[in-house]
Amino acid sequence: MIKKLQQAFRERFNKEPIIVGAPGRVNLIGEHTDYNNGFVLPGAVDKRIYVAIAPNNTNTINVFANQFNESYSFSIDVTEPHKGWMNYLLGVTYHIQQGGKKISGVDVMIDGDIPVGAGMSSSAALCSGFGFALNELFQLGLSRMDLAFIGQKTEHTFVGLQCGIMDQFASLHGKKGHVMKLDCRSLEYEYIPFDFPGYKIVLVNSMVSHSLAGSEYNVRRRQCEEGIAILKKHYPGINSLRDVEPAQLLQHQQELPPVVFDRCSYVVYEKERLLTGCEALSKNDLATFGKMMFATHEGLSKKYSVSCTELDFLVECAQHITGVAGARMMGGGFGGCTINIVQADAVETFTNKIRSAFNGLFKKTPEVYVTQVEDGVKIM
Ligand code: GLA
Repeated sequence: MIKKLQQAFRERFNKEPIIVGAPGRVNLIGEHTDYNNGFVLPGAVDKRIYVAIAPNNTNTINVFANQFNESYSFSIDVTEPHKGWMNYLLGVTYHIQQGGKKISGVDVMIDGDIPVGAGMSSSAALCSGFGFALNELFQLGLSRMDLAFIGQKTEHTFVGLQCGIMDQFASLHGKKGHVMKLDCRSLEYEYIPFDFPGYKIVLVNSMVSHSLAGSEYNVRRRQCEEGIAILKKHYPGINSLRDVEPAQLLQHQQELPPVVFDRCSYVVYEKERLLTGCEALSKNDLATFGKMMFATHEGLSKKYSVSCTELDFLVECAQHITGVAGARMMGGGFGGCTINIVQADAVETFTNKIRSAFNGLFKKTPEVYVTQVEDGVKIM
């Protein structure tokens, strides 16, 4: 794909590009915890958005997206969002300059193999890749964390999704063979080896595009804030659900609207599950880790209400297939993929069984991606 992109870029723009590859991400555990200042455990994957780029000595950014066969040009003096995937580029251009950095026009061609709408963060990869490319080209001196925040601000202001920092962070900081335990409160992180030669990370796409997630996602965020506002009256020291102990939440259950209680209780227990999971990983105990994953799914489905029939079915199915250590829906929810930890020699049977069961009920065949954890954004 890189060679093809390079060739297509030369043909369209008559010059030599640099090519940046920005990966999508998986998240092993710790879902909907990032914007609650909790922990997450993502890794970058072997599927990328590729950004081919070269300066053009004008004030215009010309973009061609191979996947959509669409082109778009805009002035670097961006003031407002436009529509669709362009907003990611507009937002990054805007926020880089808001931070006092100077850029000029570029020609850009984009391609990639991260499935769109599958919950693997293709949009975060696009922002990370484009930001990283501009940073390289114009020697802006932005750190990977700066670029992650630029991507997040783009989602907030140009797209309208009040997301946390996990996806952008993971795309930029990934390391081959490792997942990252990120503390979203302090932004400290550590690399944890994910080195299980006998197991594979397998994603199963529910084929339900999670594009509707936007508004409901923001609602979840507000519900968590509502819970905090009530608990804070009793515990002035707490600023987010990260700071809340299960016992504190239970003590004030009656004061919270039931749905707010459910949302908060999912988040508070997800922190416990993540910590137990990390402990298990450090002991090479995938059985315990897998149990945590199933429990996370239960919480996301029943208490946080971000799953859907297709995702619930895929997890239920996985639970009954030999060789599956753990499975759960992954990412924002309402569609997208499940993440499954599957014994390497059982992957084929797993794939066949889950495909045919899903097809029997929903009359469509889920795509299955056997992935591995890889390096973050880099020049290819
Ligand atoms: C989306 C958001 C992330 C995170 C996950 C849920 O991917 O972009 O910030 O909140 O959902 O864990």
